[in-house]
Amino acid sequence: MTISDIPDSELQALKTRYEQAGQGHVLQFLDQLAPAEQRELYDQLSAMDVERVNQIYTKAIAGAEAASKDQEAAVEPLSEDVFDSVIKASAETRNDWETLGLKQIAQGKVAVILMAGGQGTRLGSSAPKGCYDIKLPSSKSLFQLQAERILRLQDIARQYKKPGDQSEGIIPWYIMTSGPTHAATYAFFKSNNFFGLKEENVIFFQQGTLPCLTMEGKIILESKSKVAIAPDGNGGIYAAVQNTGVIQSLKERGVLYSHCYCVDNCLARVADPAFIGYCVSKNTDCGVKVAVKTAPEEPVGVVCVRNGRYGVVEYSEISQEVSEKRREDGSLAFGAANIANHFFSTEFLERVPSFASELEYHIAKKKIKYVDLETGEQIAPKTNSGMKLECFVFDVFPFAKQFSVLEVDRKEEFSPLKNAPGAGADCPETSRRDIIAQHIRFIEAAGGKVAGENVDDCEKVQFEISPWVSYAGEGLRDIVGGKTIQVPAIIETREDLIRACQ
Ligand code: UD1
Repeated sequence: MTISDIPDSELQALKTRYEQAGQGHVLQFLDQLAPAEQRELYDQLSAMDVERVNQIYTKAIAGAEAASKDQEAAVEPLSEDVFDSVIKASAETRNDWETLGLKQIAQGKVAVILMAGGQGTRLGSSAPKGCYDIKLPSSKSLFQLQAERILRLQDIARQYKKPGDQSEGIIPWYIMTSGPTHAATYAFFKSNNFFGLKEENVIFFQQGTLPCLTMEGKIILESKSKVAIAPDGNGGIYAAVQNTGVIQSLKERGVLYSHCYCVDNCLARVADPAFIGYCVSKNTDCGVKVAVKTAPEEPVGVVCVRNGRYGVVEYSEISQEVSEKRREDGSLAFGAANIANHFFSTEFLERVPSFASELEYHIAKKKIKYVDLETGEQIAPKTNSGMKLECFVFDVFPFAKQFSVLEVDRKEEFSPLKNAPGAGADCPETSRRDIIAQHIRFIEAAGGKVAGENVDDCEKVQFEISPWVSYAGEGLRDIVGGKTIQVPAIIETREDLIRACQ
């Protein structure tokens, strides 16, 4: 297919559309291109809604200006009475939430949606983050840990099945990828046999893209025949679930609730029954988990009230005054860290298009390769040359009918992998440390002990329990109570655990 297959009138119409939108420069090099390249550019530009791109730019600029003006006046911390806490709740309440969640899972009403379209630039690896080896003794990737948690939960939930219920209690796993992560993510799952899950229950879908823009809002040409594009942010999930058949699939499977989370948290409680049960008990359509923010400069968004509605102020947009504000007891006033674990009812996901035009877009300034429009040369800039426009997954919070917030224990549920090895925080070493420390706590809470070389150094100790054996510390007491496990011990099955106990 070349440009000669396109009628002149259509090519002219495209040029006029871009010129009228003030973006005519994108066709500036058309005449210099080979016919196949001309066609590529034509196809890319025809598929793009240039008027929408302009609207998004205008909105993003206005949003950034408003946010920088008087943030302090616009935001209020969450008051204690609007959220619940797994830390403060009674054992009975926690148990009620968990049982309710497991019942929903047993009835096939729960799905998980993983946001895995990010490029992990800070981590310094070009592979999708979920493939990353945090150097656990088992060498399991983040994807594998998450898959095994799903498998284990499905098993646990079977005990909650009602007599006569035909549901198989499957937790379908919807994985959102993007142009840069799709092929490698799919290939990784395929070559690992979907980690024991049935292929039909692991559904990949791709988020959309937006063109990169100059600071003045002009579309950037990456080469003479190609517009620079980037994924549209993790908030692209809402358009993607509509456009790629995910909503349809959820409905066909009878899924009413989805747990949506970030790929890079090694402690993510995938399809967490306590969170599901909590949200269901409150008739929630949109919910989020938070943990205590550790320091004003910690790179986490904070859940708060913005202009009278629930929302998040992202770490890249929070002012110093707001981030440093403290309560009388010294704790951070804006201390409800968003750990990017979301709950959505299917009804809510379906409703998003009705308010999509009101959603915010955010500006991320980046070094973007571009073609110099004077010389036609490609430039790889050393400083920020333009912007990516992104929608954030939490931008829908203000539109929830029943928004719920659950505080969780950070050490049990949040250890993000953001930075390259050796960074000292949110890096592969801290991920490994935090997950192994949790496994040792599981044994101790069940009345056992882990002993031997490096037990006090979780970056080194050779100990690990597979999620197959325990999702969150359950099912261990009968085996480990009063026993000691000597390291090295990599526990993959209950039999391994029995053998390891002395
Ligand atoms: C995110 C949250 C932040 C939170 C922090 C906790 C957002 C916008 N910000 O920040 O409030 O405190 O996690 O760790 O959610 N992703 C896509 N497509 C994209 C971009 C990202 O799927 O276009 C996915 C990533 O693969 C990842 C998740 O979204 O799973 C979060 O993206 P990331 O860029 O790591 O977010 P943070 O800046 O760390």
